[in-house]
Amino acid sequence: MHKTAVIGHPVKHSKSPLIHNYWFKKHGIDGEYTAIDIHPDNLKQGVDDIIEKGYRGFNITIPHKETIMNLCDDIDDTARVIGAVNTVRIDDGKLTGFNTDGFGFLENIRRGIAGYNFTNKNVVLIGAGGASRAIIHGLKSENVAGITIVNRTFEKAEKLAAEFDVDAVPWQKRNDVLAQCRLLVNATSLGMTGQPNLDINITHLPLHAVVNDIVYAPLMTPLLKQARQNKHPFVTGIGMLLYQAAQAFNIWFDVMPDVTDELQQKILDS
Ligand code: ATR
Repeated sequence: MHKTAVIGHPVKHSKSPLIHNYWFKKHGIDGEYTAIDIHPDNLKQGVDDIIEKGYRGFNITIPHKETIMNLCDDIDDTARVIGAVNTVRIDDGKLTGFNTDGFGFLENIRRGIAGYNFTNKNVVLIGAGGASRAIIHGLKSENVAGITIVNRTFEKAEKLAAEFDVDAVPWQKRNDVLAQCRLLVNATSLGMTGQPNLDINITHLPLHAVVNDIVYAPLMTPLLKQARQNKHPFVTGIGMLLYQAAQAFNIWFDVMPDVTDELQQKILDS
């Protein structure tokens, strides 16, 4: 039996067990995926325990995505540039860290809009947190024309923009920059159930520009509803969760699992 898990604190609301256990069943792999709550003070002890028990690997969620890097024997280039690890594979007790969030983001849009090509697109990215780092890294690997970060705290946008050699504009300009935009992404938690709405007006966005939200609860965020109303192509956020998980599964088992409508519905219903 292949053991895998997600570690975090808190972790009980994670959708990852549902996703990976669905794939074990679907692909006939004898495996189990659980959620393990590890307090930040006990991270090393918790991980040692996982190694001891012979796990194949694990995912990492808040608040361990950065600190887990100190416990990895090796970190792949993508995770190193992003500065966070969301997937660890264990081989003979040695930990290799990966980050599959950028892949999840790109793949969601590629699958959401058949034939989508990122090349030469101008992207406007709302937010400058951890999710934005993975998304920028992913987009840069696809030769986009440019990335403009818009963030409430301008200093954070500027810092991130300097690090990745992209642009930053102040929050007050968020509606104006949309005139040149071909892909608009919300990488903040704004619009999520219980959070404030993303205060943006997409009137200046060209008609064929694609709108994507990384929030998936609700699936149709206020931003995506605006996009739908204004007849923009749009991609919901649930696929980013599913495809980052798919790449993790592939890292552990060398099988790229099926992201099915049935699985998506199971998550939305859970
Ligand atoms: P994650 O790692 O998931 O990306 P994060 O690092 O907490 O999460 O980042 C949250 C993002 O949402 C940030 O860009 C944050 O903006 P600030 O840098 O100004 O904090 C943005 N955000 C959160 N609440 C916001 C609000 N009410 N208005 C505008 N932006 C907000």
